[in-house]
Formats: sequence, structure tokens, C-alpha cells
Amino acid sequence: MNSDQPSTQAAEIISSDREHIWHHLTPHNAFKNSDPLIIKSGVGMRVTDIKGTEYLDATSGGVWSVNVGYGRESIANAVRDQILEMCYFANSAGSIPGAQFAQRLLQKMPEMQDADVNSKNHGKGKVYYSNSGSEANEKVYKMVRQLAHINGDGRRHKIIFRDRDYHGSTIGALSSTGHQQRKEQYGPFAPGFSEFAHCCCYRCPFGKTYGSCDIECAKDLEAAILREGPDQVGAVVLEPITAGGGIIPPVPEYFPIIQAICKKYSVLLHIDEVVCGLGRTGKWFGYQHYDVKPDLVTMAKGLASGYAAISCTVATDKVFNQFAAEDAGTLDYFRDISTFGGCTAGPAAGLANMAIIEEENLLDNVMQMGAHLKDRLFDLQEKYPVIGDVRGKGFFAGVELVSDRSTKQPVHESYAMKIVAHCMAQGVLIGRTNRSFTEFNNNLCLSPALIASRRDIDDIVDAIDLALTDNPL
Ligand SMILES: Cc1ncc(COP(=O)(O)O)c(C=O)c1O
Repeated sequence: MNSDQPSTQAAEIISSDREHIWHHLTPHNAFKNSDPLIIKSGVGMRVTDIKGTEYLDATSGGVWSVNVGYGRESIANAVRDQILEMCYFANSAGSIPGAQFAQRLLQKMPEMQDADVNSKNHGKGKVYYSNSGSEANEKVYKMVRQLAHINGDGRRHKIIFRDRDYHGSTIGALSSTGHQQRKEQYGPFAPGFSEFAHCCCYRCPFGKTYGSCDIECAKDLEAAILREGPDQVGAVVLEPITAGGGIIPPVPEYFPIIQAICKKYSVLLHIDEVVCGLGRTGKWFGYQHYDVKPDLVTMAKGLASGYAAISCTVATDKVFNQFAAEDAGTLDYFRDISTFGGCTAGPAAGLANMAIIEEENLLDNVMQMGAHLKDRLFDLQEKYPVIGDVRGKGFFAGVELVSDRSTKQPVHESYAMKIVAHCMAQGVLIGRTNRSFTEFNNNLCLSPALIASRRDIDDIVDAIDLALTDNPL
């Protein structure tokens, strides 16, 4: 149902929002001639705004978070019961859902560097709770810096990141992010962060073609370590599949090379699963598609599907044990706190979220329907020259738009915005790279909830099809 005339209450809320809310990622003039979108309710794959317009959501809540879809009673009940029994206590003390969720999470990550892969039920390692992806990453950066002091003179503190990856909005996390437009005007940045090349084959930074290349993009990590000084580099941080930078999955050879370089220089491998974690790509974690064993893993968004704020920094016991000073009089333990890392709603929601993914076989659904999504997008690529590349895994797909296939000239971001707006007018919400790069804000992004059916996928792709037909370049 769509009504152009909002009810009195809706009109009041819209006016209050316009007056009082500073919206994320939004230029101030956005609401001069149009109303802010106010989402009122959601069920399954669909959300409804305050004016009564319903949308099929192919973004999982705008930024890849609501993995199990909207309106899940089991999560709401788990959170309600838990907060009535015990809502919060600082995480210097434990909680029942905190202990249970950490154990369940680690069981899903048997590949963590020193875990016993033969033991069915016991993942090793430690989980550190906080409440956003940026914060989970900041914890790693502090751990790396502190380890440099515990194990030496503090020199081995540097962190290498990739130039199309995003790791968060806080100053440390932004310092380890490669998106120029996200960083512009927010400097100066924290020292000790340095970048290396991305791994997008479509725009190979080394001018090579996959099949005849030497995976130079992975080997560039070694160049960065040598440039920064091998005795000064503590860790490398990587998204398993670059998300906000344009949905870039690496080739299969990539991570084993990265791992070998990390081993060679005793550099910790930190994988940022904030987006890919908890099923987005058809496995529990994105890194599980590749032959790699991380030392540190961070996660947030899909961890509780947005029903509660929670993030986790997971470390191997090998990392953790270096902080376990025998002498309680020293400062060699991780002297960090995240106040809301003690909220029990997060792990309670996380447990219920994980149960849904298991009970409904959602990883299988993502594998099967993700293949269908990719097939449909490849068909669109045949039909429209403006689609230069289709990339992704599972329910995480990117469509790169170019004005000329032979030169790969990116379309202007306004064109991508037009396609997104056209889909929205058809009742389908899709995403795009949003003011991240000077040039490459030309990617459409599809990340439906893990429950999406074949029909949902077809409706999403049909909307893009029509948007491209109605907007010839
Ligand atoms: C890969 C990645 N890491 C970290 C973050 C930051 O997460 P948050 O916004 O919860 O701080 C994001 C957010 O989009 C992300 O995409």
C-alpha cells in the first residue's frame, strides 16, 4: 500500500526527524525537497516506511546487517528474557549468554591458527566483547601495539591494510582504511598504518590478467613490510572480501600467499569479518572460502542481525597467552574496557541468531540462491554494456558500472544513484558504493538477508533490469 499523504502522526515524526536527526552518511540538503525515509516496521525480507510504502530489502538493513531478516520472535524473546534476568554488568565479570555465545562462536572457527581441527566441539581461542565493528578493530590495533611492548621495545607496532578496504569510522579504524573520500577532511590520522595494493582483478593495480599473472597483489604485502621495516610491522588487516570498496573477492591463490608472507615475517594476520561474518557468503565466515588461518578475527553486523549491538574480537590462544602475565603486578594484560561490551542482550541475540541460521539451513540457502543471483547478474551483463563486471560470493554481489567497456571508464556516481533510486521507486532497496573513492563510486551492491527465496532474488534482479532499461547511458 502506498499513500502520498502521510497520517498526522507520520507527518509529525517526519517533521521531528527533519528537525532533530543528524542522519548518517547523508548530505544536509538531502531533505530540502524530499522527506527522510523513516522505516516503521519489518517482516522477513520486507520493510515498510512510515507512509505505508513497502520495500523488498536487498541491503539487509542498509549496511549488510539483518542476516536472518526482520521480525524474528525467537531473538526478541531471548533478548527480553535475558535483560529481565540480568541486563548488564561490566565484562570484567562474566555472564551466562556471554560464555555460551563465545563457546558457540569459537566452535564455528576451527581454523583459527592454533585450534585443534580434529576436536569437533571445541574451538580454541578467546572472545573479547565490544559493540561496533570499528571498536572490535580498534581492540586488535591496541593488542598489536601492546604486544610490541610486551615482546620488545614497542617497535613492532605497524599495521598494514589494503587500499580498497574499510575498517571503520573511528580515527584508528579510519587510519587503516583505504577510501580517500571517507578519509578526506578527517586527518591527521594515527601514525603506524600503511597501505598495500587491492586485489580487484577487473582493475588489476599491476596491469595483469588473472591466469597469466603471478598474484602480484598478494605479493605486494611483502613489499609493504620491507618498505615499513620487517622489525616494525606487527599485523596486516584484511577484509576476506572487500565490501564497501566494491565487493572484491580475492582469487583462490591470494590468501595462502598472504599467510606465507605473514609467517615469514612473524606478522599477525587479522581478518575483518564485520560484513562477511555469520553467513553472508554461504559459510560462517568469509575467510572459510579460502585456505587461510587467521590469528585475529573481528565481527559485528550480522553477529546478532542488528537485534542488539554486539561486536567480537576473536584471538587465538597463542595471541591471548602472550598477555597472560604470571605476575599480577605487571601491566602486561589487556587493560581495555568497552562499557557496553557487558550488555547481555548482544550475546543472547547472537545465540538466537545462530540458532536460526542452523535450524533453517540458511548457509545452504545462501550457497544455492547466491549461485542463482550470480547467474541472473551475468545474464544482465550480457544484456547491458554498462555492466563492466559482476563479482561476489553468496548473498554478497557487486555490479560495477562503466560507461565504456573497452576503457572500463567508471560511470559517474550520479548514474549509480539513479539506478538505486529507480529500484526504490519500484519498491526494491539496493545498495551502492557511497562516497568512498574519487573514481569508483560506481558499484551496485546486493546483500539480501540469508532467507531470500528464488522469487525474492528474481524480483531484485528484475528491478535492476528495468532500471537499466529506463536509464540508458
Ligand atoms: C569491513 C568493515 N569493517 C568495519 C566496519 C565498521 O563497523 P561499525 O560501523 O559497526 O563500526 C565496517 C562498516 O561498514 C565494515 O564494512
